[in-house]
Amino acid sequence: MVGVASSLIVHWGDYGVQHSWKEVTGSGTFDTHDPTARTLYGAEVFADPAFRRLGIGKKLYQARRRLCRAMNLRRIMACGRMPNYHRYATQMSPESYAMRVIWGDLPDPVLRFQLREGFQYCGVVHGYLPSDDESVGNATIIVWINDRYKSDKPTTVPEGPIL
Ligand SMILES: CC(C)(COP(=O)(O)OP(=O)(O)OC[C@H]1O[C@@H](n2cnc3c(N)ncnc32)[C@H](O)[C@@H]1OP(=O)(O)O)[C@@H](O)C(=O)NCCC(=O)NCCS
Repeated sequence: MVGVASSLIVHWGDYGVQHSWKEVTGSGTFDTHDPTARTLYGAEVFADPAFRRLGIGKKLYQARRRLCRAMNLRRIMACGRMPNYHRYATQMSPESYAMRVIWGDLPDPVLRFQLREGFQYCGVVHGYLPSDDESVGNATIIVWINDRYKSDKPTTVPEGPIL
């Protein structure tokens, strides 16, 4: 195994901008998962440090988009770590940091990767994961919209692998 992505389906309206990883994932138990809801929530993604920058993250994100489309879900929401923010935390707010990354002034391996994967930046969640020292507890909230979503069709669980 060289990489992992875990996701659950949630009612996004129950959370909105200010939420924590604990709240949305039921403290990591995923008991907040509701298969009738419409938002795929990306709870975790990582590639083995020895195998980064080889396209594993891209494949995991591609698989999430395929899952979202195959299940007729409206969107993927996720909160992204800001691993370089701690270097700038005394100089600027996490919102300013995110803007500077988006403008191309500062490097950030996670946000830059997510933007290239077609996600849109929606703001910063404070206190999302307090134990994440590199991000100083903050996270960026990001969304990818499924342009093939049909609101009149139910969420479906595909049979077999999604290719
Ligand atoms: C974010 C993460 C999952 C990305 O995984 P990855 O497997 O390294 O991702 P990829 O290889 O698909 O892409 C990463 C970069 O490598 C580049 N890349 C991919 N294949 C490459 C290759 N053969 N040669 C050079 N660069 C390559 C990609 O273009 C991408 O560049 P970019 O960031 O400038 O867009 C990984 O960095 C990680 O696990 N981070 C720690 C955990 C974490 O913070 N997860 C996010 C939680 S929100």
